[in-house]
Amino acid sequence: MPTIKKIGVLTGGGDAPGLNAVIRAVVKTASNADVTVIGLEDSFDGLIYPERSRILTPKDVTGILRLGGTILGTVNRGNPFAEPIVTPEGTFDYSERVMQMFQEMELDALICIGGDGTLGISYEFYKKGIPLVGVPKTIDNDIYGTTSCFGFDTAVSFATDAIDRLHTTAEAHRRIIVVEVMGRYAGWIALHAGVAGGADVILIPEIPYDLDKVVTCLRHRDERGARFSIVVVAEGARPKDGNLSILEEAHAGYAERLGGAAKACADELGKLAGKETRYVVLGHLQRGGAPTAFDRTLATRFGGKAVELVLRGQFGKMVANHPPELVPIPLGEVVGRTKMVPLDYDLVQTARMMGVSFGD
Ligand code: F6P
Repeated sequence: MPTIKKIGVLTGGGDAPGLNAVIRAVVKTASNADVTVIGLEDSFDGLIYPERSRILTPKDVTGILRLGGTILGTVNRGNPFAEPIVTPEGTFDYSERVMQMFQEMELDALICIGGDGTLGISYEFYKKGIPLVGVPKTIDNDIYGTTSCFGFDTAVSFATDAIDRLHTTAEAHRRIIVVEVMGRYAGWIALHAGVAGGADVILIPEIPYDLDKVVTCLRHRDERGARFSIVVVAEGARPKDGNLSILEEAHAGYAERLGGAAKACADELGKLAGKETRYVVLGHLQRGGAPTAFDRTLATRFGGKAVELVLRGQFGKMVANHPPELVPIPLGEVVGRTKMVPLDYDLVQTARMMGVSFGD
């Protein structure tokens, strides 16, 4: 067992409801084990600029369980290894600076809470010698190796509520309404919110769609007397013979920014179906607000388990949810992979059997 007296905690990548619940659990469990916690601000920036870190005591995390966002701040930028770091003390190679600050701050380990990007950076630092443990975070629920991530349930609940609201106005006007949800490379939010909200069509990245097939489904609904239809589309869904809807191309290590899937779909569907069509983009609303009870619980379990792994010297691992347990899995097995919706997932099958169209 290593001697652990002081650890750092950071949050990186896009925020997700439940980040604060993880931080709170880390601080409370570590403090009960006589371990000091240093909160590192804005992801690894807290290990670059000395003034961007602070001690976190249980008092500092009181009341944050129910808050969205992250008290530590976060950044979602491209590959940080690519650029040198300019500080008042001089210009440094990014990774050398982080390694040096880790030593100077006398940290014994790090807990890195983040998505694929942050876990990838963390893995690089682990290979360079920083003892650390990863905690998976993303509302998209697409991190490989864990059945769930906190933030997903909150995003699905919000999107479901939005779809419920859109039903009444769609029905009143006999319209098609297309709702765009997040989900860059995996359609978990679209699938779960679509089913929970009773959508008629669900378009996900895993199943390229054909709008003619969608129109056939919508016509059947009309023939059966339905006055409206709800189409849920993941931002990363694309037509069989088309491309992703991209707002900004990938550059310098940044992933491409997606957007426009709902508009493209609604414009075309309106013409093909000959019905009034509107679209709504839920966007970052899905990332805001208080985490659900499920997400608070999962995030708390992740935080506690991460501290336990640190105390046991289980470094280079990510806490993964394998119900009913949380287990450590090697970061090397996680990074660079995406957990897609399996096409034989029972929820896909059930939705199909109930008449939901996936546009294929
Ligand atoms: O990965 C989570 C996510 O919310 C994606 O669904 C979305 O495409 C992306 O982040 C948006 O990132 P940003 O907040 O940097 O625009």
